[in-house]
Amino acid sequence: TRPLVIDTDPGCDDAVALLLALESDALDVVGLTTVHGNTTVDATTANARAILEAVDRTDVPVAAGADRPLLVDLETSEHVHGEGGIKGKLPEPTAATAPVDGHAAQYIVEQAREHDGELTLAAIGPLTNVALALAIEPDLPDLLDDLVVMGGAAFVPGNVTPLAEANFHTDPHAARRVVRDCEPTLVGLDVTQRAAVPPALVDGLEAADDAASTTPLERSIHEWLTYYEDDRLERYGIESAAIHDALVLASLVDESVLETDAYHLEVGVDSELARGALVADANDVTGAAPNGRVAVDADYERYRELVAAALERSLE
Ligand code: BDR
Ligand code: CA
Repeated sequence: TRPLVIDTDPGCDDAVALLLALESDALDVVGLTTVHGNTTVDATTANARAILEAVDRTDVPVAAGADRPLLVDLETSEHVHGEGGIKGKLPEPTAATAPVDGHAAQYIVEQAREHDGELTLAAIGPLTNVALALAIEPDLPDLLDDLVVMGGAAFVPGNVTPLAEANFHTDPHAARRVVRDCEPTLVGLDVTQRAAVPPALVDGLEAADDAASTTPLERSIHEWLTYYEDDRLERYGIESAAIHDALVLASLVDESVLETDAYHLEVGVDSELARGALVADANDVTGAAPNGRVAVDADYERYRELVAAALERSLE
């Protein structure tokens, strides 16, 4: 099994991604680190802890991290993910999942050193914690087996500005630092915008709005799979919400889920227009060597199978 730290800002799609990882035999989730993003870091931390408690995984440590981007001001996305950063809110977490001492960035560095060369880091929120970890330990990329990031929109329009995806837009300087130094695999809107998982695919979820016959976790999962408002569904021409972050975890369970290509990559920070824009030099006009990979296609059928099976297990 693959030791894994997930840096996350739950978030409806983060919640599904966490369940996928926690229910997978192929992955050993050694810790969660939390970051500002869909809501404040206090609320993302509470949401992550509540998810662990809902599936009896209080053994997984949580380390809380950055409460704001490196340089720009904090901007959160409750208008997409709901009040408190998540729809389908679970009961408040208890002392059983109290965060460990120390900052998420320090925790990432410690785990990378401990699992020297074997740790995978899945980053599914703004990259502030990862950039800070890199500042503490410049050899972080060598200490990691893999860094897989939900972020960017290389060849499709953005979801916050015409050019930028939310995680990159929220902390563009962190995204630039990580793209320049870490040779990440970027799983962006190019592939995640189509990563919906209709609730009907998950046994037992179809009746989840029938309050009398369903559990709180069933109702939450139903909300997490359908969190977009109708105008968003229309805008993106899809039938249920994009579960962006789960595609990252699915690709760690089964690498055949994603097709990736290597590019020379850069992230814009210098103007409102370019803020958070991921630029892939697809015509090789710079002549610069590739410094990362971008997911360009996905096996959605296999992806949906993996997510549905994990969600069913979480409900057993
Ligand atoms: C990304 O931004 C967040 O709102 C989601 O959780 C996901 O990580 C999608 O652009
Ligand atoms: Ca996220």
